[in-house]
Amino acid sequence: MRQWPNEPMIRYFGFGNSDAILINDLRVYKDVLHTQCYNFVRTTAFRRLIMDIIGVGLVFAEGNEHKRQRKILGGLFTVSNVKSYLNVFQGKAMMLAEEIDKLISKNGGIMDAKLAYSKVTLDVIGIFALGMELKNLDEPTEFLDCYQTVFDLDTTGQILAAINTIVPIRWLAWLPVPTSNRKFVQANATLRRVLSQITQKRIDEVTAGKTNARSQIQGSPNKDLLTFMVEEKFMSEKDPWTKADLVEQVLNFVATGHETTASALTWATYTLGNYPDVTKKLRLETLEVLKRNPSPSFSDIENMQYLDNFTRETLRVNCPVNGIDRQAIQDCVIAGQPIKKGTILMPIPSVISYNPNVWGEDAEVFNPDRWDRLSGAAADPVAFAAFGYGPRSCIGKAVALLNFKTIIMELVTRFDFEAMQKGKIEVVNPSGQLRPKGPMWVKVSRALDVVA
Ligand code: HEM
Repeated sequence: MRQWPNEPMIRYFGFGNSDAILINDLRVYKDVLHTQCYNFVRTTAFRRLIMDIIGVGLVFAEGNEHKRQRKILGGLFTVSNVKSYLNVFQGKAMMLAEEIDKLISKNGGIMDAKLAYSKVTLDVIGIFALGMELKNLDEPTEFLDCYQTVFDLDTTGQILAAINTIVPIRWLAWLPVPTSNRKFVQANATLRRVLSQITQKRIDEVTAGKTNARSQIQGSPNKDLLTFMVEEKFMSEKDPWTKADLVEQVLNFVATGHETTASALTWATYTLGNYPDVTKKLRLETLEVLKRNPSPSFSDIENMQYLDNFTRETLRVNCPVNGIDRQAIQDCVIAGQPIKKGTILMPIPSVISYNPNVWGEDAEVFNPDRWDRLSGAAADPVAFAAFGYGPRSCIGKAVALLNFKTIIMELVTRFDFEAMQKGKIEVVNPSGQLRPKGPMWVKVSRALDVVA
């Protein structure tokens, strides 16, 4: 993209000299993801990279089956349902802040941001997807360990993951070598086993007409995904989903729903650690809102302009999802260019987000204020590429944004951050996500300019 910023599509050779095309233009991004969405499917390499971890579910449904599933599950992502989680999100943000406060007393505030946010976002998604308190903030669970294992592969694990996208080799786990493959397979098996048990328990509770685990949750949100699916689809007379279907969906949502938001928060904290003025501006805006309403409502948060700018800029500069590969299932024409069936196209959110033709010459600079004066291509909604676009765009966008914003609001009113790792941060590669390799260390201190 840096070399050919004006080319809408850049052809390159994939594995075995197969044709692949990097998408480098808003119109093409929109055509592939939206206008001609169902002329494309997810690629085999993408399936092999992440399907073990995130399950089959909605993410890997295609064509009419995708439309059906999306329509059903969309019922859970309505604004009113997401809003009903506000208290839960705010409660978890406070718990995280308490943990950080303890850390300051204990070790001077040296925090692995990546781990801290994995814990809190897993707890949040536990409530949203499973209707359960996982309590990783109190004590890391088996769940957390398994996700850390599968997302944070060691070097051998990464090499195996890369090979596995070309030739399936996960079965080697049953041989005495290599260990990282075995760990990966075992962690995935544990996730499936635990989620299968939780699903069975919920099926039993709902079919017996009992109040489910939701009653344990403070703030009593409307409905969690698992209960919703048991009621709407497992018990439905028309095309019911089996227990196995529910487990795959649950796996999908727990995995996609927590590490992405954790990644956004990790990079946001790194940014705050590098731009103390941004922390101060966010703090001022939040304190203003808190003065008017000590328990900010959904619309109070929606109306926080600088927080929104910061959120969007964080997601533009650090898109948590690396690539959303597509493969043409029939010959088609994209932006006047014939595309043969089987061709792989790569819509990469950060390629769109860094293109100077869209964002201007300062595309690579972190500048939240740019969102106050968007013009030209940048003002097109497609340009905010982090969540994809069209019928397959992120179904959890509203959940992610609210979760992200409530955490940032809580943290900036209490703490200052200092990035301990300077310069370029090494990331896990290959990976479906923009994930720092190893911990992301930040130094957190209590904000001195906040009057209690
Ligand atoms: C900052 C956080 C997040 C980011 C940046 C993000 C980004 C994305 C992207 C780029 C896609 C792929 C779109 C495509 O293939 O065209 C996606 C899909 C998806 N996301 Fe998210 N996501 C986030 C949070 C969440 C959350 C919180 C949930 C669940 C509660 C979620 C659930 C999903 C699901 C199920 C899909 C598949 C949708 C489909 O294929 O129809 N995501 N997300």
